[in-house]
Amino acid sequence: MPRDKVILAYSGGLDTSVMVPWIGEKYNMDVITFTVDLGQGEDIERIKQKALKTGAVDAVAQDARNLFVDHFVWPALMAGALYEGKYPLATALGRPLIAKLMVDEAHNHQAKAVAHGCTGKGNDQVRFDVTFQTLDPSLKIIAPVREWKMTRDEEIKFAAKHGIPVEATKESPYSIDQNLWGRSCEAGVLEDPWDEPPADAFAWTVDPVKAPNEPEYVEIEFKHGVPIALNGKPTDGVPLIDQLNKIGGRHGVGRIDHVENRLVGIKSRELYEAPAAVILHDAHQELEFLCLSKQAHRFKTFVAQEYADLVYNGLWFSAFHLDLFQFVANNQRFVDGLVRVKLLKGKATVVGRKSENSLYSKKLATYETGDQFDHEAAKGFIRLHGLGQQTQAQRQLLKGGKGFDLPGLPGPNRGS
Ligand code: ARG
Repeated sequence: MPRDKVILAYSGGLDTSVMVPWIGEKYNMDVITFTVDLGQGEDIERIKQKALKTGAVDAVAQDARNLFVDHFVWPALMAGALYEGKYPLATALGRPLIAKLMVDEAHNHQAKAVAHGCTGKGNDQVRFDVTFQTLDPSLKIIAPVREWKMTRDEEIKFAAKHGIPVEATKESPYSIDQNLWGRSCEAGVLEDPWDEPPADAFAWTVDPVKAPNEPEYVEIEFKHGVPIALNGKPTDGVPLIDQLNKIGGRHGVGRIDHVENRLVGIKSRELYEAPAAVILHDAHQELEFLCLSKQAHRFKTFVAQEYADLVYNGLWFSAFHLDLFQFVANNQRFVDGLVRVKLLKGKATVVGRKSENSLYSKKLATYETGDQFDHEAAKGFIRLHGLGQQTQAQRQLLKGGKGFDLPGLPGPNRGS
């Protein structure tokens, strides 16, 4: 009788390599590995060959970088999604896409199960499992690291027994995940939030102190909130992000040190490097200040927070997400224009912005000749603007000759 099949999210590292024979033995299933290129800078063909050599019955490698940018990264950028105002969500955006592609593979191969290498402590297991269970609840979910309780040494022994080569390269002291939107680094010495991250925790950015003393400028053009050109050249999403990662990285831009609230109830110290994401979010925000009305801008900040939370919490495949995105997409229809960013010693600073849809009017703003602002109208406006507060002060706050209580400090007439 043929064995059932399982699609395993496979990186080729020790954990997922050991999973191939482990799942075969424990669950009596044939393992098909799935490796996806989200711009993490690894050779997925080589990883696929490793899977085939070490017991997978089949191995799939897919380049999903364009899908990732068009359907995950750009929507998140348009939304301004920064978890807790800081984390551009690289890993969190990658997981639902990987999980969705795995469900598609499961259907292609009539597999009965899906498997991943996440631990039982993080957010990633939630994002994977919620997506699997949303897109096909009939699939069995196997998460070996949550159940096998092997130490690293035991894993190495298990690997040796099954003829899996363990690469001699020194194991990183950190847990790392990366894709083209950013690199996440956690654990090891980073677990003490008081300790400054050591140099070996960084891979994409130079130490800002050692960055060039001369600034470098980049110009990014946006259309409807999406970047379409870099330094005057129309550029597709993947190369645009790649280039900005390199340029920003050499100026030490994009380091984020964050004590973050995980979904599973713990705080964890995370170190991110995301030069392109930081530059693009800054640039995009500044263009929004130019192009969005005051109310649209204010409401958008609430949506951005909601959007970031739902991405972080693994709820990508929800109607609520699509509803929020409808708002975002509509809200971005005037966000067209050019932003100039200066990169220097670890900082990205927006120094110029312009747009055909700009709501900034020099004629109204200027203090010099050509001022068209109606100064007379200001007087009447101010009378009415302050009228409610004036009435309240007379009737309630200043009654009986009392002064106005300053917040926080005991007023002069208090306690008499
Ligand atoms: N804390 C980040 C998140 O939840 C990054 C997780 C990185 N994953 C990893 N296996 N190192 O999105």
